Amino acid sequence: MLDKILDEKVQGTALKKEFTTNGNKKMYIESYGCQMNFSDSEIVASVLSREGFCTTKILEEANLVLINTCSIRDKAEQTVRNRLKYFQSVKKKYNKKMTVGVLGCMAERLKEKLLDQEKLVDIVVGPDAYRDLPKLVKEIEDGKKGINVFLSLEETYADINPIRLGGNGVTAFVSITRGCDNMCTFCVVPYTRGRERSRDPKSIIKECEELIKLGYKEVTLLGQNVDSYLWYGGGAKKNYKNITVDESKVWDFAKLLDEVAKINPILRIRFSTSNPQDMTDQVIDVISKHKNICNYIHLPVQSGSSKILKLMNRGYSRQEYLILIDKIKNKIPDCAISMDMISGFCNETEDDHLKTLSLMDIVKYDYGYMFKYSERPNTAAAKKLTDNILEKTKQRRLTEIIAKQREHSLMHMKKRIGNSYEVLIEGRSKKSSQFYYGRTTHNATVVFKKQEKKVGDYVNVKIQDCTSATLIGEII
Ligand code: SAH
Ligand code: F3S
Repeated sequence: MLDKILDEKVQGTALKKEFTTNGNKKMYIESYGCQMNFSDSEIVASVLSREGFCTTKILEEANLVLINTCSIRDKAEQTVRNRLKYFQSVKKKYNKKMTVGVLGCMAERLKEKLLDQEKLVDIVVGPDAYRDLPKLVKEIEDGKKGINVFLSLEETYADINPIRLGGNGVTAFVSITRGCDNMCTFCVVPYTRGRERSRDPKSIIKECEELIKLGYKEVTLLGQNVDSYLWYGGGAKKNYKNITVDESKVWDFAKLLDEVAKINPILRIRFSTSNPQDMTDQVIDVISKHKNICNYIHLPVQSGSSKILKLMNRGYSRQEYLILIDKIKNKIPDCAISMDMISGFCNETEDDHLKTLSLMDIVKYDYGYMFKYSERPNTAAAKKLTDNILEKTKQRRLTEIIAKQREHSLMHMKKRIGNSYEVLIEGRSKKSSQFYYGRTTHNATVVFKKQEKKVGDYVNVKIQDCTSATLIGEII
């Protein structure tokens, strides 16, 4: 019964997983937003497991309910608010002693407002304060308020071994940087996740080695801006130029990627997200050199108009972006490329929008993640520009962008028909227990009959058919 209630209420993106429910302290955790949030929840589970907490997927029996939140667009925050209201109703009905905590970007953005004005939660913890969770939970038991939204210049949780939640045992996220210094004018992330800092490469390599021992076959190196990775001994990237360091001990992203790829050829490497202004030729060379680094780059462009890119403070023009795309295509033949795009940013004219569509026609992205501009409080765009594009115009432009991307995605999928690709089996297909799903190096999902293989195996699959989102094939 409880499971049923839960299944009806939990959103598709929510993460819920039980690894053990023995013991009195039970926590339930849901994650929303970017991959980094899902990865952070695994750090949170690890921090709290040291205090005797185990996770449960049954919300109603948890003493501690945590929601790892996203502030990137207004809609994301509304989703979280609705969920928090639901938690309050469950608390009233089933478990008056339940403690509800908000983690992540909304915690950082709204701080004590969530405790005092909105009265939806008991604990508020920002992305750099997860080590403090056990103390805050204890304080709640003593009747105090639990809040820590301190943003750090050093915290990378390098020493914390994440507890893998809701995973398939084959693919894992490994966080390599935190925060972002780019200050794109539309983006709330630099305010909610703080200054950029990189994690000790030794701890990254160790985590990957341990994952291999556990049977994992693929890692995705995560950061808001992975190409900006810089290890010089620890601390904020902005402080690097002010101190004297032994340059031979400095690691950039190209070096990190190269070393991670060398750990073991059976480990596939992916990374996300790249900011075009920081992607170097060396990174492209390293990708082309290693077979186990996937031929797929997520390279958010946001707009095809140089005027809009400047207003967004993206640090590149349309021309520079296209030069980078050419370099990638020349050095890594058959590299899949995807983008993020925003429609209806401040002052975007019809001509700017047409430039976005024409850029898409030139690049022909394999996949796209497309959004309407949503003004975020306190960002540079909110302070200095006017959100002056009508909602219906934003929507119409978005619809046109999505329609074009569908055509391009389908075109890329169709060209795979008749070819064979190495696929890493990630699990059973949702539609049929007779089928597995996995991904090609290009990040294309493939569905195929199981045969004698098991999850975690690499297989060669001949593609026979497709939709715009999935390839269908047969193991050969
Ligand atoms: N570098 C980050 C980007 C985070 S935000 C990463 O690791 O993915 C993800 C995407 O959300 C952005 O690339 C952008 O396309 C979109 N986005 C960010 N702020 C937005 C806003 N205010 N309105 C609409 N879309 C936004
Ligand atoms: Fe946001 Fe730009 Fe950084 S989109 S996360 S400020 S690279």
